[in-house]
Amino acid sequence: MKRIAVMTSGGDAPGMNAAIRAVVRYGINKGLEVYGIMRGYAGLLEDDIRLLNFVDVGGIMEKGGTILRTARCEEFKVDKGRKEAYKILKSHEIEGIVIIGGDGSLNGGALVASESDVKVVGIPGSIDNDISETDTCIGVDTCLNTVVENIQKLKDTASSHERAFIVETMGRNCGYIALISGLTTGAEAIVIPEVKVDYQTLADKLLAGRKRGKINSIVVVAEGAASAYTVARHLENKTGFETRVTILGHIQRGGSPTVQDRLLASRMGSFAVQALLDGQSNVMIGIQGTQMVAVDLNKALQKKKELDLSLYELANTLS
Ligand code: ADP
Ligand code: F6P
Repeated sequence: MKRIAVMTSGGDAPGMNAAIRAVVRYGINKGLEVYGIMRGYAGLLEDDIRLLNFVDVGGIMEKGGTILRTARCEEFKVDKGRKEAYKILKSHEIEGIVIIGGDGSLNGGALVASESDVKVVGIPGSIDNDISETDTCIGVDTCLNTVVENIQKLKDTASSHERAFIVETMGRNCGYIALISGLTTGAEAIVIPEVKVDYQTLADKLLAGRKRGKINSIVVVAEGAASAYTVARHLENKTGFETRVTILGHIQRGGSPTVQDRLLASRMGSFAVQALLDGQSNVMIGIQGTQMVAVDLNKALQKKKELDLSLYELANTLS
């Protein structure tokens, strides 16, 4: 193998740059030419592909976002678009590709692996932590730190005004961000898609907290479970507390990656290139415990990632 490419696709996640750096530098060290595909599958279809050298990826480890940019591309979902993409990859003599992205992007990657002779290795990059066969994804740790920092700030003002704050986090259909940030900020309640919400029980819990002397009430709501405004309406009616809503939004995807994300991305990026050099394809790099693993990509995509609900119980017990 002489020539590989790397791309980022779908929602950006902090740490993607560290992964790009690792792919490029590990690849060059192993004698490969490494190309960067701009804006995910959209850039691939526009033939926006450039050779990257050691210096091109200097100073990017600490930067949020992705220097390769990213996009969502509907054209790639249809056969005609993908056939065009395979022609473009062939014209550049690209033999292997590292795709960094969420489950959508990795689904696209699985199609490349089965429909063309380009070898594909996926790297899970998504704040949602909704991908199976890996304990975590690039961006999750930074996102959680951002969410926790912001909930902490809201707690200050919630206490000063003796208010309830309903904080909405991202995560698509997965409650992981809400669960972990709620647990680690001592939120009084967490609303996630994996657990049916009962507003009366929730309101009773907040009321009991106030009786015990709490001066604020923080409820963390995963976007996939309910709208924070709906939760606020129910709780304000049932408790009478002055209630405010904060939707954290895209700040959750930005910022300089944490040490954990830089380390994970560096390990995953280099492991991905080594997997290509070893002749592997249609695999996803994951971390299981402390070990880097290359798992069957389709298996990872088909299996639903289960949330550890004992952490939900723990959060309830401790709050
Ligand atoms: P993420 O990778 O963050 O989950 P998306 O689900 O939006 O983000 O997917 C990113 C891109 O990956 C899509 O815009 C599309 O180009 C490609 N993609 C997603 N699903 C498929 C699919 N089933 N087949 C082909 N390409 C796909
Ligand atoms: O997958 C990452 C994510 O941030 C989700 O948590 C969220 O639902 C979605 O992307 C938002 O997408 P967009 O950036 O297109 O608004």
